[in-house]
Amino acid sequence: PSVVRRRTLLKLGGAAASAAVLPWAAPADAATSRAITADLRPAPAKAAILGANRPKTDVLAYNGTVSGPVVTMHQAVPFQSTVTNGLDQGTTVHWHGIRLPNDMDGVPFLTQKPIRPGADFHYAFTPPDAGTFWYHPHEHTAHQMGRGMAGALIVKEPEPPPFDRELLWVLQDWAFEPNDQFVPGFDTPMEAAMSGRIGSVVTINGVVPGPIKLRAGERLRIRMVNACLARFMALRFTGHRVTVIALDGQPCHPFQPANGQVIIAPAQRVDLQLDTTGQPGRDYPVIDDFYGRHATYRLVTLAYTKQQPRRRSLPAQPIILPPNPVPKPDLSNPIRHHLDIVGGMMGGMGMTADGKPAPIWGIKDGSRTSDGMAPIFTIPLGRTALLTLENHTAFWHPMHLHGYSYTVLSRNGVKEPYPHLRDTVILRPKDTVEIAFAATNPGDWMFHCHVIEHQVNGLMTVIRVA
Ligand code: C2O
Ligand code: CU
Ligand code: CU
Repeated sequence: PSVVRRRTLLKLGGAAASAAVLPWAAPADAATSRAITADLRPAPAKAAILGANRPKTDVLAYNGTVSGPVVTMHQAVPFQSTVTNGLDQGTTVHWHGIRLPNDMDGVPFLTQKPIRPGADFHYAFTPPDAGTFWYHPHEHTAHQMGRGMAGALIVKEPEPPPFDRELLWVLQDWAFEPNDQFVPGFDTPMEAAMSGRIGSVVTINGVVPGPIKLRAGERLRIRMVNACLARFMALRFTGHRVTVIALDGQPCHPFQPANGQVIIAPAQRVDLQLDTTGQPGRDYPVIDDFYGRHATYRLVTLAYTKQQPRRRSLPAQPIILPPNPVPKPDLSNPIRHHLDIVGGMMGGMGMTADGKPAPIWGIKDGSRTSDGMAPIFTIPLGRTALLTLENHTAFWHPMHLHGYSYTVLSRNGVKEPYPHLRDTVILRPKDTVEIAFAATNPGDWMFHCHVIEHQVNGLMTVIRVA
């Protein structure tokens, strides 16, 4: 499927449109905002992923649950978390998508030392943006995240938007052996050189989902997090017209996705408005057909209760989420850099200069593995960076920058009709994408593919802002 297809942009009427331009304001009295604490303890656990009557699977889990506990923060309210490592190897917590101070970013050997087994680390920051984010380890990532360590991170708006209800879907997939344990050997060379590990069982919030009960005549917000190692999704909500209202946590100009397919790559988030316009008593499957007709499956069924609709009719205008205070890039005089994505099965990089086999994947001249984290370039603090990302490979890559939400400007020379913010953008084979951000957050920031097997095999680098 294509990510650059025509989509139906929604015309915004009076009331809704003016809501979009209301500036977000911090709570006036900081003393009324109490700090929020959510401690995390990663450790081995057992989880009933395949259902209550099947053997449990050995997982690695935050606080004993897969997916991890939902960490809820409030916009502009301080947050803290003590992470105590109950694993037999080092770990960190990365708060994916949050614009936070560099030393809280959870990247081992770059922003902190790994948390040793039995040790703890204290994270503390204030999330500036409301939205749908997530957290996961950044050390032994294929091993730990692939066995379950990932959870949703929700930053609430000061004023809750007027949805009737909210659903959260943390999407994960798993490769099981017949004994209901994971196929061993995460990050094998074969998986790494191709598309990464794509499991055969897809779960929502850690379980193979039963039908989700809906009542007709409601406005729902569905927060979706793709926490898979490698699986892309193209979700079709049969019988419904869904509206995308936020991407990677950042409110966007509302649109109806082309062909009704909601594309969500590993690490991306999509917030949908779903108006329950179906018939009471009927079932509506949600289908994922990203990998084509032969690999289509039913993710979940939306099952309407027989209840009378909650409302006779729903307003035509979507709910507009308040914008976040992300600094605008100044495109009049940006610092430009070009990043070439290379490698993979058909385009290996061969040998390094000193005759060692090169990593399978790379960012040309800038690949970094854990023993070398020198930045590929430095963006002067306060300037705008304009990066051109060029995918020379035959594979799809969701490219993620830490510490920032960047504006996606263009794809293959075609300007985005509405510039939108992302922290993870899809590069299809041979795509060229331009992104820009105001470099106001100093530090050394990871930039990498979020297909974890690509990342840990070289598709990562570091961008310094100083
Ligand atoms: Cu989800 Cu380096 O991040
Ligand atoms: Cu991240
Ligand atoms: Cu990749």
